Amino acid sequence: MNHTVQQAVAALQSGSLVILPTETVYGLGADAANPEAIARIYTAKGRPRFNPLIAHVTGRDMAMRIAEPPPLAVRLMDAFWPGPLSLVVPIGDRDAVCDLARAGLDTVALRAPAHPIALAVLAEFGRPVCAPSANRSGRPSPTLLSDALEETGVSAKVALDGGPCAVGLESSVVAVLGDKAYLLRPGGLERSAIEAVTGPLATGHGEAHRSPGRLALHYAPKAPVRLNVNTPRPGEAWLTFGVKVDALQAFNLSPQGDLNEAAAHLFAFLRAADRLNPKAIAVAPIPAEGLGEAINDRLRRAAGYVG
Ligand code: TXA
Ligand code: MG
Repeated sequence: MNHTVQQAVAALQSGSLVILPTETVYGLGADAANPEAIARIYTAKGRPRFNPLIAHVTGRDMAMRIAEPPPLAVRLMDAFWPGPLSLVVPIGDRDAVCDLARAGLDTVALRAPAHPIALAVLAEFGRPVCAPSANRSGRPSPTLLSDALEETGVSAKVALDGGPCAVGLESSVVAVLGDKAYLLRPGGLERSAIEAVTGPLATGHGEAHRSPGRLALHYAPKAPVRLNVNTPRPGEAWLTFGVKVDALQAFNLSPQGDLNEAAAHLFAFLRAADRLNPKAIAVAPIPAEGLGEAINDRLRRAAGYVG
Protein backbone atom coordinates (compact mmCIF):
# COMPACT_ATOMS: atom_id res chain seq x y z
CA MET A 1 0.00 0.00 0.00
CA ASN A 2 1.52 3.35 -1.00
CA HIS A 3 -0.64 6.37 -1.64
CA THR A 4 -0.18 10.02 -2.63
CA VAL A 5 -0.04 13.13 -0.47
CA GLN A 6 -3.43 14.18 -1.95
CA GLN A 7 -4.99 10.87 -0.93
CA ALA A 8 -3.58 11.31 2.58
CA VAL A 9 -5.06 14.81 2.86
CA ALA A 10 -8.46 13.60 1.64
CA ALA A 11 -8.38 10.78 4.19
CA LEU A 12 -7.55 13.22 7.00
CA GLN A 13 -10.39 15.51 5.89
CA SER A 14 -12.83 12.60 6.03
CA GLY A 15 -11.77 11.63 9.58
CA SER A 16 -9.78 8.55 8.53
CA LEU A 17 -6.35 7.47 9.77
CA VAL A 18 -3.15 7.82 7.76
CA ILE A 19 0.24 6.15 8.24
CA LEU A 20 2.85 8.89 7.79
CA PRO A 21 6.64 8.74 7.62
CA THR A 22 8.63 11.10 9.83
CA GLU A 23 12.37 11.31 10.49
CA THR A 24 11.89 9.72 13.94
CA VAL A 25 9.38 6.86 13.52
CA TYR A 26 6.24 6.20 11.45
CA GLY A 27 3.14 7.89 12.85
CA LEU A 28 -0.56 7.02 12.78
CA GLY A 29 -2.12 10.38 11.95
CA ALA A 30 -5.55 11.95 12.28
CA ASP A 31 -7.13 15.41 12.13
CA ALA A 32 -6.24 16.98 15.50
CA ALA A 33 -9.53 18.91 15.57
CA ASN A 34 -11.77 15.87 15.00
CA PRO A 35 -12.49 13.94 18.23
CA GLU A 36 -13.99 10.98 16.36
CA ALA A 37 -10.87 10.63 14.25
CA ILE A 38 -8.69 10.91 17.38
CA ALA A 39 -10.78 8.23 19.09
CA ARG A 40 -9.96 5.95 16.15
CA ILE A 41 -6.24 6.36 16.90
CA TYR A 42 -6.71 5.21 20.49
CA THR A 43 -8.74 2.22 19.33
CA ALA A 44 -6.23 1.28 16.61
CA LYS A 45 -3.34 1.41 19.09
CA GLY A 46 -5.20 -0.16 22.00
CA ARG A 47 -3.85 2.85 23.91
CA PRO A 48 -4.98 4.07 27.34
CA ARG A 49 -7.16 7.12 26.84
CA PHE A 50 -5.24 9.30 29.31
CA ASN A 51 -2.20 9.39 27.06
CA PRO A 52 -2.08 12.72 25.16
CA LEU A 53 -0.84 12.84 21.57
CA ILE A 54 1.72 14.98 19.74
CA ALA A 55 0.19 17.46 17.29
CA HIS A 56 2.34 17.85 14.19
CA VAL A 57 2.63 21.27 12.57
CA THR A 58 4.47 22.72 9.58
CA GLY A 59 6.51 24.95 11.85
CA ARG A 60 6.52 27.97 14.10
CA ASP A 61 3.73 29.88 12.28
CA MET A 62 1.19 27.09 12.62
CA ALA A 63 2.30 26.55 16.25
CA MET A 64 1.70 30.24 17.06
CA ARG A 65 -1.82 30.06 15.63
CA ILE A 66 -2.97 27.34 18.01
CA ALA A 67 -0.75 27.59 21.11
CA GLU A 68 0.77 30.17 23.45
CA PRO A 69 4.41 29.15 23.61
CA PRO A 70 6.63 31.10 26.03
CA PRO A 71 9.62 32.87 24.42
CA LEU A 72 11.98 30.04 25.44
CA ALA A 73 9.81 27.57 23.50
CA VAL A 74 9.92 29.82 20.46
CA ARG A 75 13.72 29.87 20.68
CA LEU A 76 13.72 26.08 20.74
CA MET A 77 11.44 25.97 17.67
CA ASP A 78 13.75 28.33 15.81
CA ALA A 79 16.80 26.29 16.79
CA PHE A 80 15.53 22.75 16.14
CA TRP A 81 12.43 22.70 13.92
CA PRO A 82 11.80 20.90 11.75
CA GLY A 83 13.35 18.13 13.83
CA PRO A 84 13.01 15.48 16.57
CA LEU A 85 11.86 17.84 19.36
CA SER A 86 8.30 18.02 20.73
CA LEU A 87 7.44 21.03 22.87
CA VAL A 88 4.74 20.92 25.54
CA VAL A 89 3.31 24.43 25.81
CA PRO A 90 0.00 26.06 26.85
CA ILE A 91 -2.83 25.49 24.36
CA GLY A 92 -4.43 28.57 22.82
CA ASP A 93 -7.16 27.39 20.45
CA ARG A 94 -8.67 24.41 22.29
CA ASP A 95 -10.61 23.28 19.22
CA ALA A 96 -7.54 23.14 16.96
CA VAL A 97 -6.24 20.22 19.02
CA CYS A 98 -9.33 18.69 20.61
CA ASP A 99 -9.64 17.76 24.30
CA LEU A 100 -9.43 14.05 23.56
CA ALA A 101 -6.08 14.51 21.78
CA ARG A 102 -4.74 16.52 24.74
CA ALA A 103 -6.29 14.10 27.25
CA GLY A 104 -8.05 17.11 28.71
CA LEU A 105 -4.80 18.93 29.59
CA ASP A 106 -4.33 22.71 29.19
CA THR A 107 -1.10 22.03 27.35
CA VAL A 108 -0.32 20.61 23.93
CA ALA A 109 2.75 18.78 22.60
CA LEU A 110 3.80 20.27 19.24
CA ARG A 111 6.38 19.13 16.72
CA ALA A 112 7.40 19.98 13.16
CA PRO A 113 8.74 16.75 11.62
CA ALA A 114 11.83 16.93 9.38
CA HIS A 115 10.45 14.73 6.62
CA PRO A 116 9.42 16.10 3.23
CA ILE A 117 6.39 13.82 2.92
CA ALA A 118 5.05 14.63 6.38
CA LEU A 119 5.61 18.35 5.80
CA ALA A 120 3.86 18.16 2.41
CA VAL A 121 0.81 16.54 4.01
CA LEU A 122 0.73 19.13 6.81
CA ALA A 123 1.10 22.05 4.40
CA GLU A 124 -1.65 20.76 2.12
CA PHE A 125 -3.96 19.89 5.03
CA GLY A 126 -3.24 23.28 6.58
CA ARG A 127 -3.97 22.27 10.18
CA PRO A 128 -2.32 20.14 12.91
CA VAL A 129 -2.26 16.36 12.59
CA CYS A 130 -1.99 14.26 15.73
CA ALA A 131 0.19 11.22 15.26
CA PRO A 132 1.49 8.84 17.88
CA SER A 133 3.96 6.20 16.76
CA ALA A 134 2.14 3.73 14.49
CA ASN A 135 2.72 0.69 16.73
CA ARG A 136 0.11 -0.97 18.89
CA SER A 137 0.37 0.24 22.48
CA GLY A 138 3.41 -1.14 24.33
CA ARG A 139 5.21 -2.44 21.20
CA PRO A 140 8.37 -1.12 19.53
CA SER A 141 7.79 1.90 17.29
CA PRO A 142 7.89 1.21 13.53
CA THR A 143 10.80 2.65 11.56
CA LEU A 144 9.83 1.01 8.25
CA LEU A 145 6.51 1.21 6.41
CA SER A 146 6.25 -2.60 6.45
CA ASP A 147 6.50 -2.60 10.27
CA ALA A 148 3.90 0.15 10.55
CA LEU A 149 1.52 -1.79 8.29
CA GLU A 150 2.02 -4.91 10.39
CA GLU A 151 1.13 -2.98 13.56
CA THR A 152 -1.77 -0.70 12.64
CA GLY A 153 -2.17 -1.05 8.85
CA VAL A 154 -5.68 -2.48 9.14
CA SER A 155 -6.87 0.74 10.78
CA ALA A 156 -5.36 3.17 8.27
CA LYS A 157 -7.09 4.19 5.08
CA VAL A 158 -3.91 5.54 3.51
CA ALA A 159 -0.21 4.81 4.04
CA LEU A 160 2.74 6.80 2.70
CA ASP A 161 6.18 5.27 2.22
CA GLY A 162 9.06 7.52 3.24
CA GLY A 163 11.74 4.85 3.43
CA PRO A 164 13.55 3.89 6.66
CA CYS A 165 13.36 6.57 9.36
CA ALA A 166 16.68 8.42 9.57
CA VAL A 167 16.62 9.05 13.34
CA GLY A 168 14.82 5.89 14.46
CA LEU A 169 13.93 7.08 17.98
CA GLU A 170 10.88 9.13 18.92
CA SER A 171 11.30 12.85 19.46
CA SER A 172 12.63 14.31 22.69
CA VAL A 173 9.70 15.80 24.64
CA VAL A 174 10.43 19.06 26.48
CA ALA A 175 7.83 20.97 28.51
CA VAL A 176 8.39 24.71 28.63
CA LEU A 177 6.69 26.53 31.47
CA GLY A 178 7.63 30.18 31.70
CA ASP A 179 11.40 30.29 31.49
CA LYS A 180 11.94 26.72 32.72
CA ALA A 181 12.34 23.66 30.49
CA TYR A 182 11.77 20.06 31.62
CA LEU A 183 12.90 16.96 29.76
CA LEU A 184 9.84 14.68 29.84
CA ARG A 185 11.18 12.07 27.42
CA PRO A 186 14.74 11.69 26.13
CA GLY A 187 14.63 11.14 22.37
CA GLY A 188 16.08 11.85 18.97
CA LEU A 189 17.51 15.25 19.90
CA GLU A 190 20.24 14.81 22.47
CA ARG A 191 20.17 16.56 25.82
CA SER A 192 23.33 18.57 25.20
CA ALA A 193 21.85 20.18 22.07
CA ILE A 194 18.69 21.21 23.94
CA GLU A 195 20.67 22.48 26.93
CA ALA A 196 22.76 24.69 24.65
CA VAL A 197 19.55 26.74 24.30
CA THR A 198 17.80 26.18 27.64
CA GLY A 199 20.67 25.79 30.07
CA PRO A 200 20.52 22.72 32.35
CA LEU A 201 17.16 20.97 31.85
CA ALA A 202 15.09 20.81 35.00
CA THR A 203 14.46 17.41 36.56
CA GLY A 204 12.32 16.44 39.56
CA HIS A 205 9.47 18.41 38.02
CA GLY A 206 6.05 18.03 39.66
CA GLU A 207 3.70 15.14 38.90
CA ALA A 208 1.59 17.50 36.81
CA HIS A 209 4.26 17.68 34.17
CA ARG A 210 5.28 14.09 33.99
CA SER A 211 4.74 12.76 30.51
CA PRO A 212 1.59 10.82 31.26
CA GLY A 213 2.05 8.34 28.45
CA ARG A 214 5.23 6.75 29.67
CA LEU A 215 4.11 3.26 30.63
CA ALA A 216 6.58 0.89 32.27
CA LEU A 217 6.38 -1.90 29.74
CA HIS A 218 6.75 0.07 26.55
CA TYR A 219 8.50 -0.61 23.28
CA ALA A 220 8.37 -4.29 24.22
CA PRO A 221 8.99 -7.17 21.82
CA LYS A 222 7.35 -10.55 22.56
CA ALA A 223 10.57 -12.11 23.82
CA PRO A 224 11.95 -11.01 27.20
CA VAL A 225 14.80 -8.50 26.98
CA ARG A 226 18.05 -8.77 29.02
CA LEU A 227 20.33 -5.76 29.22
CA ASN A 228 24.11 -5.23 29.53
CA VAL A 229 24.90 -8.71 28.24
CA ASN A 230 28.45 -9.43 27.09
CA THR A 231 27.93 -13.18 26.67
CA PRO A 232 24.50 -14.30 25.50
CA ARG A 233 23.06 -17.65 26.59
CA PRO A 234 22.20 -20.43 24.13
CA GLY A 235 18.93 -19.73 22.34
CA GLU A 236 19.11 -15.98 22.85
CA ALA A 237 19.23 -13.39 20.08
CA TRP A 238 21.89 -10.73 20.65
CA LEU A 239 21.89 -7.03 19.89
CA THR A 240 25.50 -5.92 19.87
CA PHE A 241 27.18 -2.52 19.65
CA GLY A 242 30.62 -1.70 18.31
CA VAL A 243 32.45 -5.02 18.46
CA LYS A 244 32.10 -7.25 15.42
CA VAL A 245 30.62 -10.65 16.24
CA ASP A 246 29.90 -13.61 14.01
CA ALA A 247 27.23 -15.22 16.20
CA LEU A 248 24.27 -16.63 14.31
CA GLN A 249 21.49 -14.63 15.95
CA ALA A 250 23.44 -11.36 16.37
CA PHE A 251 22.36 -7.95 15.11
CA ASN A 252 25.00 -5.24 15.26
CA LEU A 253 23.37 -1.89 16.08
CA SER A 254 26.51 -0.12 14.88
CA PRO A 255 29.75 -1.87 13.94
CA GLN A 256 31.51 1.53 14.19
CA GLY A 257 30.11 2.20 17.67
CA ASP A 258 28.14 5.19 16.36
CA LEU A 259 25.15 6.04 18.59
CA ASN A 260 23.22 7.77 15.78
CA GLU A 261 23.46 4.65 13.66
CA ALA A 262 22.46 2.50 16.66
CA ALA A 263 19.40 4.69 17.26
CA ALA A 264 18.32 4.38 13.63
CA HIS A 265 18.55 0.56 13.83
CA LEU A 266 17.23 -0.03 17.35
CA PHE A 267 13.51 -0.72 16.81
CA ALA A 268 13.92 -2.52 13.47
CA PHE A 269 16.55 -4.84 15.01
CA LEU A 270 14.42 -5.50 18.12
CA ARG A 271 11.66 -6.59 15.74
CA ALA A 272 14.01 -8.65 13.58
CA ALA A 273 15.44 -10.39 16.66
CA ASP A 274 11.92 -11.03 17.96
CA ARG A 275 10.90 -12.72 14.70
CA LEU A 276 13.47 -15.47 15.40
CA ASN A 277 11.38 -16.44 18.46
CA PRO A 278 14.45 -16.46 20.73
CA LYS A 279 14.40 -17.45 24.42
CA ALA A 280 15.30 -13.83 25.10
CA ILE A 281 16.84 -10.85 23.37
CA ALA A 282 20.19 -10.07 25.01
CA VAL A 283 21.51 -6.55 24.49
CA ALA A 284 25.14 -5.49 24.82
CA PRO A 285 25.99 -2.46 27.00
CA ILE A 286 25.33 0.85 25.22
CA PRO A 287 27.23 3.98 26.32
CA ALA A 288 25.04 6.51 28.15
CA GLU A 289 26.25 9.69 26.46
CA GLY A 290 24.54 11.58 23.61
CA LEU A 291 21.71 9.60 22.01
CA GLY A 292 22.70 6.74 24.34
CA GLU A 293 20.46 8.36 26.98
CA ALA A 294 17.36 7.82 24.83
CA ILE A 295 18.50 4.41 23.54
CA ASN A 296 19.04 3.13 27.09
CA ASP A 297 15.68 4.60 28.16
CA ARG A 298 13.90 2.63 25.41
CA LEU A 299 15.84 -0.53 26.22
CA ARG A 300 15.03 -0.32 29.94
CA ARG A 301 11.36 0.05 29.04
CA ALA A 302 11.54 -2.85 26.57
CA ALA A 303 12.94 -4.90 29.46
CA GLY A 304 10.16 -3.66 31.76
CA TYR A 305 12.52 -1.94 34.23
CA VAL A 306 11.29 1.65 34.22
CA GLY A 307 8.21 2.77 36.11
O1 TXA B 1 8.81 11.14 17.26
C1 TXA B 1 7.69 11.21 17.77
O2 TXA B 1 7.45 11.96 18.71
C2 TXA B 1 6.59 10.34 17.16
C3 TXA B 1 6.40 10.76 15.71
C4 TXA B 1 5.27 10.03 15.03
O3 TXA B 1 6.24 12.15 15.63
N1 TXA B 1 5.39 10.46 17.92
C5 TXA B 1 5.26 9.95 19.17
O4 TXA B 1 4.04 10.18 19.74
O5 TXA B 1 6.13 9.32 19.74
P1 TXA B 1 3.50 9.40 21.01
O6 TXA B 1 2.06 9.76 21.08
O7 TXA B 1 3.84 7.94 20.92
O8 TXA B 1 4.24 10.04 22.23
C6 TXA B 1 3.78 11.27 22.77
C7 TXA B 1 4.51 11.57 24.05
C8 TXA B 1 3.94 10.73 25.18
O9 TXA B 1 5.00 10.34 26.04
C9 TXA B 1 2.98 11.71 25.84
O10 TXA B 1 2.73 11.40 27.18
C10 TXA B 1 3.71 13.03 25.68
O11 TXA B 1 4.30 12.95 24.39
N2 TXA B 1 2.79 14.18 25.68
C11 TXA B 1 1.92 14.55 24.73
N3 TXA B 1 1.21 15.63 25.11
C12 TXA B 1 1.65 15.96 26.34
C13 TXA B 1 1.31 16.98 27.28
N4 TXA B 1 0.37 17.88 27.02
N5 TXA B 1 1.97 17.00 28.46
C14 TXA B 1 2.93 16.10 28.73
N6 TXA B 1 3.30 15.11 27.88
C15 TXA B 1 2.67 15.03 26.71
MG1 MG C 1 4.79 5.65 21.02
